Amino acid sequence: MSNKNKKYTITSALPYANGALHLGHFAGAYLPGDVYARFLRLMGADVAYVCGSDEHGASITIRAKKEGISPKDIIDKYHELNKSSFMKFGMSFDIYHRTSEKLHYETAQEFFLTLDKKGEEFDIIESEQYYDEEFDQFLADRYIKGTCPKCSYEEAYGDQCENCGSDLSPMELINPLSTLSEKEPILRKTKHWYFKLDKHAEWLKEWIENGIVDGVKTHNPKDWKTHVRNQCLAWVDDLKPRAITRDLNWGIPVPLDNAEGKVFYVWFDAPIGYISATKQWAADNGKDWEEYWKGENSKLIHFVGKDNIVFHCVIFPAMMKAHGGYNLPINVPANQFLNFEGKKFSKSRSWGIELHQYLEDFKDFPNKEDAMRYALIRNMPENKDADFKWDEFVEFHDNELVNNLGNFINRVLVLSNKYYEGNVPAHSGNWTTEVKELSVLVEEMKSDLLDFKFRPAIIKFMEISSFGNTYLQDKSPWSIYKTDPESQEVKDILFVCIQMVSLLAVLIEPFLPFTSDKINTLLSKEKVKAGDFELLQSKLKDGEAFIKAGHKLDKPSLLFSKIGDPKDTSRLELVNMQKAHLAAVLEAERPKQEAIKETISYDDFIKMDIRTGTILEAEKVPKTDKLIKLIVDIGLEKRTVVSGIAEHYKAEEIVGQEVLLLANLAPRKLKGIESQGMILMAENESGVLCFASSSKKFGNGWVVR
Ligand code: 2FM
Ligand code: ZN
Repeated sequence: MSNKNKKYTITSALPYANGALHLGHFAGAYLPGDVYARFLRLMGADVAYVCGSDEHGASITIRAKKEGISPKDIIDKYHELNKSSFMKFGMSFDIYHRTSEKLHYETAQEFFLTLDKKGEEFDIIESEQYYDEEFDQFLADRYIKGTCPKCSYEEAYGDQCENCGSDLSPMELINPLSTLSEKEPILRKTKHWYFKLDKHAEWLKEWIENGIVDGVKTHNPKDWKTHVRNQCLAWVDDLKPRAITRDLNWGIPVPLDNAEGKVFYVWFDAPIGYISATKQWAADNGKDWEEYWKGENSKLIHFVGKDNIVFHCVIFPAMMKAHGGYNLPINVPANQFLNFEGKKFSKSRSWGIELHQYLEDFKDFPNKEDAMRYALIRNMPENKDADFKWDEFVEFHDNELVNNLGNFINRVLVLSNKYYEGNVPAHSGNWTTEVKELSVLVEEMKSDLLDFKFRPAIIKFMEISSFGNTYLQDKSPWSIYKTDPESQEVKDILFVCIQMVSLLAVLIEPFLPFTSDKINTLLSKEKVKAGDFELLQSKLKDGEAFIKAGHKLDKPSLLFSKIGDPKDTSRLELVNMQKAHLAAVLEAERPKQEAIKETISYDDFIKMDIRTGTILEAEKVPKTDKLIKLIVDIGLEKRTVVSGIAEHYKAEEIVGQEVLLLANLAPRKLKGIESQGMILMAENESGVLCFASSSKKFGNGWVVR
């Protein structure tokens, strides 16, 4: 089948329109989707790449309440902000829709009604839920705060503890409080529609394990990432009915007479948002949306972060299967998380950078979009969490993009301009030797891309560029030209190099679309267009030129400028400002040292008998958070000491630690254990509790003076 008839529906998770997206979101669910969709288009496939704002859910109403504005103000603001950041970064969505659109309401309600009419997909269950009497409303899980039963964190939400990451239900919280009135909520009866997910367990398991549904093989399960499959398999063994309605005044009303005041749970309508977005795009472009979602030759792929796996691999597929007629995803190549300079992104701690902020802070850096795309793809958290570091951002840019790609292209263009006034020279024979080697590399890159291995694919791309650099260096046309400016060999070499530059312009397009356009401008060629990869492969096969002899190239100019250029520090200063901001955050968070206590006399001090010792045994004191029982060898004897350091050190890691022990402190009982002395500890300048000890081992029992 020709690629044109292959349809792909590609989705990237609809971001909540209640906040700005940061680099972690971008690397997780958006950039990979864009690279993939762009590559499929280059292959000539028929692609619908859809995304948009997810505009329901309690977090939007909470944010609106906090800011004293309406939910509509919030969604309008963040829809525009996120959409505009995406566009500036070159995201190639075919549509960026909204779940507040009428078409989406209708689509979600119809979807629900189809399931409801089947009579066996929902149960209506009455249960007791928390209710805020003062505000006269039921409380969504996010509206309830309390103490986490797992880690005792006092600010856990009714659906999740942000301290230990546990999924919770409001009933599990200890001392629940309404976030609306800050009062204790009461329990009141309410009914909800539950989607009978457990009913779908059997086929879901077969589909996830073997890629078979209704006896038909839909995909090869080995193509799915291991971490995705493992998460899915853990879920399908424990499926329970899930409430898909809520008592909220923000969301899509449940279209039934007996459901007054109920709206859909945000995760019920959000994935249907992919369908309504496709419907809108199809209507705007004279297409048939059903071909993309239901057609035999259409493939559905969801790009999401790892926190969204279950919704896309279990719940939404079950909804689509229950509805009937829809294709299930052939893959959900979820990424893991991206951290930022060693820690999680955190808006409240000002740790991380949002897309719009980066674009603003780096507005004077012309290559800002592709520099960031490159750094994020180059370090994409495909199978394990990754860490964004500003230093690495600079290194990737300067050592790889500039020194490798930029350098090659610049040398080729400068030489062509100098020797032939920018006219592509004719080759005397053919370039089959180079073509063979290039074809292998191109094929490898293609296969990585189709396997969702974007990080290896971009590294492969750089290998192709290195191939060009090495070729040019090995051939050194400048030495031949010096003695023979008419040399045909020089013409052959530059012909091949110009072809390689043209090849690179196509290959880089899925990753760095702006750079692709710039290279083509330098070559005086049109922008890359759909089907160009297919064309390129067929030309490579026949050893045909991408740019014919006689074609006039544009004047050479630099593709990139180094960030770390010592002659122009303006770009490095931008990066240094980011690093300075982070240093300031750390400094502000550093625990402040306590003031120095009252002066004591030498006579007071000399009363203390401080001995050197070694911890021989350490064990946590049961039912305490802080205490560790230690056996300390101080030479003459062994002492039992109970020390309050368990929050800082694990028992097993301190055995063998040299310590200073205050040996004549009056013994006292802690949790029934007699503590015979005190280990001396001190906070270092970062607030870390350290053992005071002699760094040089000189035995136990020495008196410290
Ligand atoms: O995690 C999120 O940001 C969700 N708004 C993703 C929704 S994906 C889809 F189902 F719409
Ligand atoms: Zn917790």
